[in-house]
Amino acid sequence: MILSGTILVNNKQHLEIGGCDTVALASEFGTPLYVMDEDLMRENCRRYLQAIQKNYPRGKILYAGKAFLVLAMANLVKEEGLGLDVVSGGELYTALKAGFPPECLYFHGSNKSGEELLEALEAKAGRIVVDSFSELEELLELARSRQQKTAILLRIKPGIEAHTHDYIQTGQDDSKFGLGIPEAKEAVRLVLSSAPYLELKGFHCHLGSQIFQLEPYRLAARVMLNFMSQVRAETGYAASELDVGGGLGIHYLKSDNPPSIETFVETVAVAVREAAEQENFPLPELILEPGRSITGEAGVTLYRVGVIKDIPGVRRYVSVDGGMMDNIRPALYQARYEAMIANKALQEPVEMVTVAGKACESGDLLIEDTYLPPVEKGDILAVFSTGAYCYTMASNYNRNPRPAVIFVRNGKPRVVVRRETYDDLLAQDVL
Ligand code: LLP
Repeated sequence: MILSGTILVNNKQHLEIGGCDTVALASEFGTPLYVMDEDLMRENCRRYLQAIQKNYPRGKILYAGKAFLVLAMANLVKEEGLGLDVVSGGELYTALKAGFPPECLYFHGSNKSGEELLEALEAKAGRIVVDSFSELEELLELARSRQQKTAILLRIKPGIEAHTHDYIQTGQDDSKFGLGIPEAKEAVRLVLSSAPYLELKGFHCHLGSQIFQLEPYRLAARVMLNFMSQVRAETGYAASELDVGGGLGIHYLKSDNPPSIETFVETVAVAVREAAEQENFPLPELILEPGRSITGEAGVTLYRVGVIKDIPGVRRYVSVDGGMMDNIRPALYQARYEAMIANKALQEPVEMVTVAGKACESGDLLIEDTYLPPVEKGDILAVFSTGAYCYTMASNYNRNPRPAVIFVRNGKPRVVVRRETYDDLLAQDVL
């Protein structure tokens, strides 16, 4: 919406989101503040569902909770009819507390603890996505001792490099995630011989995140179908599900040009259909796990401008009241963002500044060298595309309370996470 579509400005020349004046939101709820456009998240869920229905006979969309998961988000995803990918006992707990149907939960994780596996079994999570041989053995043991049958997918490393930041690339051979192909075949044999406790439904892979080029997905479809066909030839087992993960990129900068949800889904669906045909393999159910492309562009973080420092001939630092504790992505991945001054929404961006966070770290720079209208203390700075991997990766560094999260829709804001207090910061401390 914001970067890929139109920026809405009201008659006070204030940035508007979900029909709400962002400057009014900042005064009502305080700053920093995560503001999420509920309609846009719902629309993205629907676009995924429609695209899979249009392009593939049996498809499923799971929202990847790691991008942003709180009770209200789990509810939204449930209402929109998507499944949910959870990656820890905490995400599982959140989903269950929101009343998410357990059979629609897919439990991921590269190092699930015994307790987490038990929690997933107790919850009767729809699928456990097994990431390693040792997890498989542990799960088998647990399922056997509980006399409980559970459905699993095996996560495979397809050996494909996607073009994205090294830290968010996962499908290549040298990765801590998933089983290499020879190991995976051994795992299949173990599962098949362990019947009836573990029911192997199929395979999973995930290439990485913030991906703009779709060729790696076409390649992954061929690698995975070829692997499935080899497994069938060697063991007689024909997988009925293929989960190709998430990863579609979004606009962080106006110049970013990610494929649309429709193009992404169609490309993957066609690639899987073609690969299945080539291998003469029955079409598996196709599962996608988008996270960022559902919530990312729906989020804007509002900050209040504080100290402004000029270093003559070098740069102007504009400090805001948040930073790496509410958005670690610039410091961790050199991620770039765009911003505007919400209370000067129609003014020309004429001065080059660096937006600095308030953490005691020189590296806490939210946006280096960006153009804004003349900035003054007290202005409200809106940073776009912060709806994914910002709140979920937030910390209390320097004992800063984490911001509130609000959903906005039809001109109405609602708090979905209240702002932390100083007492919240002490809540776990023991003297
Ligand atoms: N499925 C699996 C197994 C994943 O590991 C991920 C993301 C997804 C789905 C969702 O990917 P998405 O559609 O959101 O790209 N913190 C990083 C991103 C880490 C992504 C981890 N896995 C960032 O801020 O860029």
